[in-house]
Amino acid sequence: MKNLFALKDLSVVDINEILEEAIEFKNGKEYDKLQGKSVVNMFFENSTRTLYSFIKAESNMKMKETNFNPETSSLKKGESLYDTVKTFESLGYDCFVIRHSQNNYYNQLTNINVPILNGGDGTGNHPTQSLLDLLTIKECFGSFEGLKITIVGDIRHSRVAHTNIAVMKRLGMEVFISGPNEFDDGSAEHIEFEKAVKEMDIIMLLRVQYERHGYSMTLEKDDYLSKYGLTMERVSQMKPDSIIMHPAPFNRRIEIDDPVVECAKSKIFDQMANGVHVRMAVLKWVME
Ligand code: CP
Repeated sequence: MKNLFALKDLSVVDINEILEEAIEFKNGKEYDKLQGKSVVNMFFENSTRTLYSFIKAESNMKMKETNFNPETSSLKKGESLYDTVKTFESLGYDCFVIRHSQNNYYNQLTNINVPILNGGDGTGNHPTQSLLDLLTIKECFGSFEGLKITIVGDIRHSRVAHTNIAVMKRLGMEVFISGPNEFDDGSAEHIEFEKAVKEMDIIMLLRVQYERHGYSMTLEKDDYLSKYGLTMERVSQMKPDSIIMHPAPFNRRIEIDDPVVECAKSKIFDQMANGVHVRMAVLKWVME
């Protein structure tokens, strides 16, 4: 039985196969072997893109999806995550998609005998986001080797950054981080933002994750845009074929200025669209 907990568990061959599969789904490939299989989307943390693109992917594959609501569940009576998931296993469900605020929550679920897809754990892993990011990069550049990316912003609290830094290095990309020092957790080489803007193939912006901080940022919101935010003036300094990415949701006028969101270099909405095809590919990968 397969799970998708973290991309580090997948070989480069696995990753490339999933991306190729996602491209085939994007090009209209029909696949009916998951038709009628039941899946529970268990989101213990808020989500728009991940939850609803999984629902769209499941619906495209004619699966039967159930959306678990933690607020009306027996979690409120003190039931544990393990006992909740074990309950759904005993009810006969075929697959789980889980997002949880606890890093590595899935380590307590290794006795579950139903495939689990991780929709994000705390500040740890967001495997399907990284796969959709990689698909978007592959569509723009054809391959990964030698591409230069800077991930800018709240690296410390970002599961997207942590997952992408590790997998992109494995794929031969040059990965840098930039932004306020308080967000630099040493997970990649630091580069000054103004230099990164001029030299990178990809600038990936991150949302400042105020809800995860537990402290007050030293930088005011207004100062963030002028020092580390992507403005059209900075976009004009980027290389001709370079692109802008953001996992979203974004904070307009903090890490990204309004006109940048939908400017010609922005791939933000292509990333979201690719999320559906990547999630179809990973559902097939864990369940076949
Ligand atoms: N990028 C991402 O994970 O977005 P959601 O939190 O809306 O799922």
